[in-house]
Amino acid sequence: MQTHLRGRDMITTQEWTKDEIDTVLDVAFELKRQRALGISHASLRDKVLAMLFFFTSTRTRASFEAGIVQLGGHGAFIDSTTTQISHGDTAKEIGEIYGRYFDGIAIRQCDWGVGNQYIRDVAAASRVPVLNMQCDHFHPFQILADLMTIIEKKGDPRGLTINVSYAYAASYQKPMSVPISLILLMTRFGMNVRLTHPPEFNLMPQYVEQAKENARKARGSFEILDDFDAGFKDADIVYPKAWGCMLTTSDLQESAEISKKYTSWITDERRMALAKPDAIYMHCLPADRNIEVTDGVIDGPQSVVYDEAENRLHVQKAVMALTM
Ligand code: CP
Repeated sequence: MQTHLRGRDMITTQEWTKDEIDTVLDVAFELKRQRALGISHASLRDKVLAMLFFFTSTRTRASFEAGIVQLGGHGAFIDSTTTQISHGDTAKEIGEIYGRYFDGIAIRQCDWGVGNQYIRDVAAASRVPVLNMQCDHFHPFQILADLMTIIEKKGDPRGLTINVSYAYAASYQKPMSVPISLILLMTRFGMNVRLTHPPEFNLMPQYVEQAKENARKARGSFEILDDFDAGFKDADIVYPKAWGCMLTTSDLQESAEISKKYTSWITDERRMALAKPDAIYMHCLPADRNIEVTDGVIDGPQSVVYDEAENRLHVQKAVMALTM
């Protein structure tokens, strides 16, 4: 267990060692156990987390706000549109100034080509930890919750096959931060990681190369497929979700048009039957029901989406308690 994490940013899990991530998981399981037993764990009394949102959220906002209060602190929800950011406050100013008011700064900024750099610029100017609540590259807290859920459901993740797959959605061109973060973290835990997507939906090549290197070091495997059905075959964990083809076109309308070629990429009962009989279905949510996944699958016995959403609370509390 690592005990020197005070002050650390969490922008991507790739910048934390495996020992440090194991520590987050240990603490998350302990905090989950304590909450189930009704044991108070107010280790961040009087501490305040800024929660700066440039984008909508159901789970992230609610779980960070509930989490910091359960740790004895307070969460200040800040909608960026109600600030002076649009009138000129820079990332450096936000880091400098919020770093003096708050004990941690959590940010969701998913704009393509903007979000990750914005969070890094705030972090460079901040004297307190900066937590990435999702950017255009990474969604670290989602993926930590996913790993916690896999360990709860399946035990030791080494040797398990996870299919991280594109699926069609009509609602909007979703960031690619979830699949990128999944291939980066799951390869470090010795899993056999399958990335399945149509040719236009490739992920940022630097992260694909990192995932290959992670798999080599952890003695797992990493492969890329372009056949939706093949991705499900004999998988232990299936994680099919939509993302936009931002590397093919920066035009969101054109991305939506390209996506329409893949309306058949829906997770249904026939596809689930291609995976192992005890395979679990995962999705970070929100999902386009009956477009991205059928009600039968997402509400069915193999779905773990609600445990996955709950675990956001526990991993975020662990990182806040360790870093703030
Ligand atoms: N999974 C997730 O980040 O959900 P929200 O967008 O609702 O926060």
